[in-house]
Amino acid sequence: MKKIATLLTVLALTAIATAALAAGKTTLPKGYAKWEKSKQQIVTDKNSLFHGIHYTYVDKKAFPVYRSGGTYPEGSQFVIEYFAIKDVGGKPTAGKKSMVVLMRKDKKQKATGGWLFAGFNADGRLSGVDPVKNCYECHLKMAKTTDLVISKFAEFK
Ligand code: HEC
Repeated sequence: MKKIATLLTVLALTAIATAALAAGKTTLPKGYAKWEKSKQQIVTDKNSLFHGIHYTYVDKKAFPVYRSGGTYPEGSQFVIEYFAIKDVGGKPTAGKKSMVVLMRKDKKQKATGGWLFAGFNADGRLSGVDPVKNCYECHLKMAKTTDLVISKFAEFK
């Protein structure tokens, strides 16, 4: 009996370690700069978490659903790059990069609705935010009916 309990503990710890490792080694997908790219999006509200200029990138698995609606296939990916607003002769222009966020459809991510959410610093290193509290909850609130994707194709280009 004791042996089984020990074995179960070891298995549970291994599962936790594996999950932590998976989250800890998420990296930005290579080549996302070549995906479908949105026009410049500006959030001027200084109180917003997303104050600044951003560009959304959509990969080719996600794009047909983004355009026409439905459920995203496994592996679909979105990346957003955020920048400060720099005034160039009265024209708002992307200044210093502030952060990058990633969503990847991944059925293993049960706590976050089947999407992997990851936040990165400007240098591309994981910022270590809690994907449930700091990402998923807001996406669930704002985009329950669009498979957790908030932005709209109509505003993309
Ligand atoms: C307070 C609400 C909120 C939180 C918290 C939040 N997001 Fe978002 N997210 C948004 C909004 C609003 C958009 C749409 C932006 C636009 O329309 O250009 C968005 C868009 C995105 C997109 C592009 C796909 C889509 O849904 O349109 C990704 C990727 C993304 N967020 C990842 C993340 C990650 C990763 C985190 C956590 C580090 C996070 N988000 C936290 C509100 C939030």
